[in-house]
Amino acid sequence: MTLGLLGLVAAACAADAPMDTFKPAGPNARTIDNLITPVFWVAGVVFVAVEGMALIFVIRYRDRGEGPEPVQIHGNSRLEVGWTLIPAAILVTIAIPTIATIFNLASKPANAINVTVTARQWWWEYNYTDLGVVTANELHMPVGQPLEITLIGADVIHSFWVPSLAGKTDVVPGRENHMNMTGDKVGTYLGQCTEFCGLSHANMRLKAMVQTPADFQAWVDDQRQAAATPAGGEAADGLALFNAKGCAGCHTIQGVSKGTSGPNLTHLASRTSFAGSMFELNDENLAIWLANPPKVKPGSKMPDLNLSGDEITKLIAYLDTLE
Ligand code: CUA
Repeated sequence: MTLGLLGLVAAACAADAPMDTFKPAGPNARTIDNLITPVFWVAGVVFVAVEGMALIFVIRYRDRGEGPEPVQIHGNSRLEVGWTLIPAAILVTIAIPTIATIFNLASKPANAINVTVTARQWWWEYNYTDLGVVTANELHMPVGQPLEITLIGADVIHSFWVPSLAGKTDVVPGRENHMNMTGDKVGTYLGQCTEFCGLSHANMRLKAMVQTPADFQAWVDDQRQAAATPAGGEAADGLALFNAKGCAGCHTIQGVSKGTSGPNLTHLASRTSFAGSMFELNDENLAIWLANPPKVKPGSKMPDLNLSGDEITKLIAYLDTLE
């Protein structure tokens, strides 16, 4: 059975998993991966030796119901010193690279971009404090340049993890946690909240988008633009609805509204996903979402606003202008 389980685990690791800590795409994840391998082998040898000996002794020296009771021995200094010192030596061997790795990962990188990540039920807010950019769920970063991340919890404990880029760090209300993360290969890496945080914990996903420096700069420049105001038509009606239906109370759209309990929507249409990166961003999914958010994302703080089909069409026409 153990072998079967190991086989399953191996198969799961070999498959092309979208969140794979064994395929590091940045120095932080690689540092961790470099530690996992030797620790795994040390633990593996200990496991086989201990379990193997236990099996041998159980089979070989089992009570066969014959002969007298064996001689009872109490205490053996040599053995006891041995089985105290050997494990201690093994633990020290593992502790040295482990502690070195902890300090290595905690050291502040030079020339980092500061991002405050706020975890909320159930989405992520990213505030690039030096760049004046606020966005949600999709974390953009230039290849090779570290992000210095400050983690803040707005409600309950969450945990921030992009397995291909860095180790996970808990996000705890009332305190600031820090981590840094660098991607050294252009690409999109998936992440996930990894601390149970309520009904839609499983739907609290994220994407880390590692871009070329030029693409990242272009993204920053776009994000700093104010939202366009539609001149007329359905989009203008949508903007009016955005204000009339209460959307403005929870969402910021630069120049339109200042709500902060929901994601900043100033450049929503520039994103590829929404609602904690749970849905691909397209008109069809937006329509399903706006019709009744808690129905498709259990516990969603965005309530069912009882919008009519016509209102939903107009709101989406407006949201589509927020590039
Ligand atoms: Cu946030 Cu689980």
